[in-house]
Amino acid sequence: MSLMNKHGIIERNSMLLLIGILIAVAIGGLVEIVPLFYLKSTIEKVEGVRPYTPLELAGRNIYVREGCYLCHSQMIRPMRDEIERYGHYSLAAESMYDHPFQWGSKRTGPDLARVGNKYSDLWHTSHLTDPRSVVPESVMPGYPFLAKKELNVPDMSADLKVNRFVGVPYTDEQIANAKADLLAQANPDDDNIDGFEERYPDVAYRDFDGNPDKVTEMDALVAYLQMLGTLVDFSIYDDKADLR
Ligand code: HEC
Repeated sequence: MSLMNKHGIIERNSMLLLIGILIAVAIGGLVEIVPLFYLKSTIEKVEGVRPYTPLELAGRNIYVREGCYLCHSQMIRPMRDEIERYGHYSLAAESMYDHPFQWGSKRTGPDLARVGNKYSDLWHTSHLTDPRSVVPESVMPGYPFLAKKELNVPDMSADLKVNRFVGVPYTDEQIANAKADLLAQANPDDDNIDGFEERYPDVAYRDFDGNPDKVTEMDALVAYLQMLGTLVDFSIYDDKADLR
């Protein structure tokens, strides 16, 4: 009976009730938030995920500069229609080195999270130069200047350094050789490719834009598009089964 009376005091005094609510909510909040400060990472490590190469990072910068994210998302949601169309749903680890992330929420065009290796380099350069030349009904704007513009990166090392500052594990060697590695990936020859392969094992290198005379913005953007969603080998997991 006495307990009921005490409850009555709180219910009749709005200030006391308010303080009581705040305490109850604060306890709930702390239980949820405090453990996060003690976890080193909330992202599960996934085999194959690696930081971008300097050329891919430069391509990604162009992607952001041109506002491709305004029409394209980069996140496949774990729903059947999305998985049937785009492939395995996106994992948190796949965008762990994206600063800022490119998940997006607008899909005037299709999701690009797994567009890598879906088309040839020639398809991409034709499509980016004039989308209607390969997809007649396309409403995507053309970016013909990308193939003409030499990739102008005054200090690629600075880009890598900033990314390291926010948690991307670039090594001192990768930072020091950023510009050389950028050129080597787009314009590989016998002299420059060994160092690149050592610093970025199992990464595709070639003349992405089909123009061996210079390294263009098109080289960088196509290099970026061609690796999107290709890092994790999903054939080693059998988790499609539990989605169907
Ligand atoms: C105004 C909206 C818009 C913008 C901006 C835009 N796109 Fe698109 N994009 C589309 C549409 C619509 C399609 C589907 C038709 C087609 O393939 O052209 C598409 C298709 C694509 C595809 C083919 C995807 C697939 O799986 O078939 C790629 C790759 C692509 N866009 C890359 C880019 C890049 C890179 C940029 C920035 C340089 C960009 N888009 C900017 C609307 C846009």
